[in-house]
Amino acid sequence: MAKPLIFVTRKFADSGIKALKAQGYRVNVYAEDNIISRKELLKNVAGCDAILPLLTDAINDDVFVAAGPSLKIVANYAVGFDNVDLAAAKRRGIIVTNTPSDKVNEAVAEHAFALMLSLARRIPEADVFSKAKKYSGWSPTHFIGTDLDGKTLGIVGAGRIGASVARRAVKGFNMKLVYADARRNPTIEKELGAKQLPLEQLLQVSDFVSLHVPLLPTTRHLMSTSEFSLMKKTAFLINTARGPVVDEKALLRALKTKRIAGAGLDVFECEPSIDCDLTDKLELKNFSNVILTPHIASATIAAREDMSIIAANNIIAVLSGKAPLTPAK
Ligand code: GLV
Ligand code: GLV
Repeated sequence: MAKPLIFVTRKFADSGIKALKAQGYRVNVYAEDNIISRKELLKNVAGCDAILPLLTDAINDDVFVAAGPSLKIVANYAVGFDNVDLAAAKRRGIIVTNTPSDKVNEAVAEHAFALMLSLARRIPEADVFSKAKKYSGWSPTHFIGTDLDGKTLGIVGAGRIGASVARRAVKGFNMKLVYADARRNPTIEKELGAKQLPLEQLLQVSDFVSLHVPLLPTTRHLMSTSEFSLMKKTAFLINTARGPVVDEKALLRALKTKRIAGAGLDVFECEPSIDCDLTDKLELKNFSNVILTPHIASATIAAREDMSIIAANNIIAVLSGKAPLTPAK
């Protein structure tokens, strides 16, 4: 019998690829270092036993049809799996897995803090200023920011990543903590004194609002005009979750009217575009109180190695007739 065939949609941290090859599998890694086109994707998945895609690949019924009946598992190289049609996979008995890991949680939580601190202390603005040789001597009024100490952080989505952010907030920065989640998180309540609030109340009391929910029909545009209108004018929004959780138009209006103090965004509603449409001439890049990073919250060596190994181990488990380690759910 031919060895299982695995299609990997892009080159990445190769420990996972090595683990797959060590099984004797035939591993076909897409050769170009760019997002694979639809055409190439559909062509390359034919006859596969497993696909290892990225969050930039829409994996739906067309892909399952193109792959054919040999396909047993889609091992998404991401924590989020909104790019995979889970219902279609289920109908065909295809297993879908993701890559949750402690290293990823910590990396994303660190990035959320990097954005928070950069906004609060105006680091990018001050960096540009300094590099432009504009610094002509210490001033009591230069780049006055805000502190995190004693401020309230509102965590929206208190799952694994939300809890990692929460721990840093309380233990590292002496912040007060509130959270909104459909489920209670007794651990962060007990360990960190976190208080659960309905989203509306959380928005009213938070100095920083950090989003950590998956993208679902119920979380699309969770933050829109009415939500921004509830926030403190001095508050900052941090998004390291998924772009469409924020209604970007509403955010731009909230920034323009100074409804909120600023935003730190690692994800965007219309990725890879930074702005969805510019009919209103409002662009995120024009706000000095907005910090943008290109979806890099999990971009650390350790996190990406973990993701690679977890994706590979899910494939190895399923192709050996075992249960997946981290099924998407
Ligand atoms: C990145 O956004 C991920 O979901 O892992
Ligand atoms: C600032 O540098 C200070 O000494 O207060």
